[in-house]
Amino acid sequence: MAAPKVAVVGAGVIGLSTALCITETCPSCSVTVLSDQFSPNTTSDVAAGMLIPHTYPGACNSKQWFKETFTFLFAISNSPEASEAGIHLVSGWQVFKNTPKEELPFWSDVVLGFRPMSEAELQKFPQHRFGQAFTTLKCDCPPYLLWLEKRLKATGVQMHTRKVADLWDLHSEYNVVVNCAGIGAHQLVGDEKLFPVRGQVLKVHAPWVKNFIRDGDGSTYIYPGIHRVTLGGTREKGSWGLSPDPSTTKDIFDRCCSLEPSLRGAQDIEVKVGLRPSRRCVRLQREVLSRGGVKLPVVHNYGHGAGGFSVQRGTAKEAARLVGECILFYLLHCFYPGHLS
Ligand SMILES: Cc1cc2nc3c(=O)[nH]c(=O)nc-3n(C[C@H](O)[C@H](O)[C@H](O)COP(=O)(O)OP(=O)(O)OC[C@H]3O[C@@H](n4cnc5c(N)ncnc54)[C@H](O)[C@@H]3O)c2cc1C
Ligand SMILES: *[C@@H]1O[C@H](CO)[C@@H](O)[C@H](O)[C@H]1NC(C)=O
Repeated sequence: MAAPKVAVVGAGVIGLSTALCITETCPSCSVTVLSDQFSPNTTSDVAAGMLIPHTYPGACNSKQWFKETFTFLFAISNSPEASEAGIHLVSGWQVFKNTPKEELPFWSDVVLGFRPMSEAELQKFPQHRFGQAFTTLKCDCPPYLLWLEKRLKATGVQMHTRKVADLWDLHSEYNVVVNCAGIGAHQLVGDEKLFPVRGQVLKVHAPWVKNFIRDGDGSTYIYPGIHRVTLGGTREKGSWGLSPDPSTTKDIFDRCCSLEPSLRGAQDIEVKVGLRPSRRCVRLQREVLSRGGVKLPVVHNYGHGAGGFSVQRGTAKEAARLVGECILFYLLHCFYPGHLS
């Protein structure tokens, strides 16, 4: 019998991580990534790639997803692959103007060395009264995406540039389809619960900045990567605009300089905009499309909002498990056609 053919739609961090997990859980599967854009042209390329999870308003398995992702990337950061994969540890501070109600976020025991900031550390932030210090991981986004693509190609995964208008169009070529289209799923599957949260960031040259700084309300952040520092940001719910706004650029820069005055000397400012694929919770679900007696099993994995990098591995593993269920369904269908609905 032919190897099951799996198509993954989308080549952002979610599509590539999911394709990787599928090759691991189903080595006999023939996996193809279909996407209208690849790195450096995805939302995932705009992200800072910090491993600090987003709190989804819906009931979600975020802590486990984050833990699995942290464990996976921590192992890469401790391997010779780390520099090519663009993964490194970064220490820093999350600071608050007012002490938060919950002093311990749900992810505090997953990151390393989480503790309240000392008085001496707080002196760096005269406008803030409370803070948390910890070490986490960061993915440098375009290098990390290229590294994932390279790993996939090495295991025989095909990558094709293709815009998919309807998942059903893939039924004659593939046995299982995985939807990792990010905000593109709004149009692709007509999900009205999925909405964009526009984010504008600056990527600057400021190699003396080694620690991350994040305002606890999430509005302003400074995330140093291997080559560039990401300065943010904005969260504009429902906005689809992809062109940078110059007054927002100035506002972000001023907010970051008030947290870290040395950024006044930053050079080579590049402005980027991305649309976070937001939803109450990630849609991680199996569905069977059916037309005229023909069936196409689909696995959805989209809607990661502001935290796609932070939960990529956990959600990819779950999606790969659901693909495994679909393959079982496909194999049974090969042996007993017509006996399953
Ligand atoms: C400014 C900003 C900063 C961020 N910082 C962080 C951070 O520090 N940490 C963190 O965890 N997260 C962060 N995020 C969130 C993170 O970027 C997203 O959660 C993540 O990139 C979502 O990945 P994705 O693969 O689902 O989407 P995308 O990267 O958008 O990928 C979707 C893919 O699907 C393809 N596609 C869409 N529709 C179709 C179609 N019809 N046919 C074919 N292909 C299609 C696209 O071309 C693309 O390749 C940030 C986001 C922004 C905007
Ligand atoms: C990214 O977009 C640019 C501009 O549209 C294009 O020239 C380039 O080929 C694209 N890159 C990839 C890898 O698709």
